[in-house]
Amino acid sequence: MPVILFVLVSFILSIHQQVRSQSSTCTLTEPDILGPYWLDGAPKKTDDLCDNLPTFDVLILTGRIVDFDSKCKRGIKNVNLDVWQANYNGVYSSGRSSNDWFCRGVLHSDDNGYFKIFTLFPGRYDDGGYRPAHIHFNITASGYPQLITQLYFEKDVYLAPFDSCEQCHSDSESLITSVRHVHDIKTFEGNWQIVLSKKFHPRIVTKTSLSRGSYIDVKQHTMPNHDRTSSREHNTMKFRQG
Ligand SMILES: *[C@@H]1O[C@H](CO)[C@@H](O)[C@H](O)[C@H]1NC(C)=O
Repeated sequence: MPVILFVLVSFILSIHQQVRSQSSTCTLTEPDILGPYWLDGAPKKTDDLCDNLPTFDVLILTGRIVDFDSKCKRGIKNVNLDVWQANYNGVYSSGRSSNDWFCRGVLHSDDNGYFKIFTLFPGRYDDGGYRPAHIHFNITASGYPQLITQLYFEKDVYLAPFDSCEQCHSDSESLITSVRHVHDIKTFEGNWQIVLSKKFHPRIVTKTSLSRGSYIDVKQHTMPNHDRTSSREHNTMKFRQG
């Protein structure tokens, strides 16, 4: 019995320590390139980034935007999160008509800096080289320098140095989240802390063309097929085993 108790106590202590060390990391969120698919005029959205979200491969991203100079203790309220990403097939919406702002929108953090985004797990595509799955962010908070960046996913086999975008920062720890299935097996859940500072100005790289073409022309945009039978064709994440 005492052995079991000892094992149990040390297990609980180790979990406690992991949680503490995670929440005590306070590093600035790195910028990343804007890429060719940002569009001006994305509509305001409350939390659903993509219209008619299907029931499979949904991503629930929660997070908090915090102030670096308060050692990440203070949340930043009313931050403008301009978010855009590809659909399952790695295609961006064109934004050319009122109903074609699929997976694009402007959201806000709440009074304590928290945000929640319901979206699709972004897809990728073979175009002579893969980009890892990613979501673009243009983050503006009053009093803080603007931050343009991208969010990536842990264990994605195309994270740098295998990213077809050589200028991108898909190897930056501040830009990688891990996702889990908490709610059900078809729902990815991730958390991302965004750290801003009034004193440090992130470099803004507005490079719009990549050396190796990694994006499909927006004109080829197709709405995702919500039919369950075709879900197998969707270009979803491939995780490295073990
Ligand atoms: C980013 O968001 C700000 C604030 O809404 C906006 O002024 C700017 O045009 C957006 N896009 C870029 C590429 O900076």
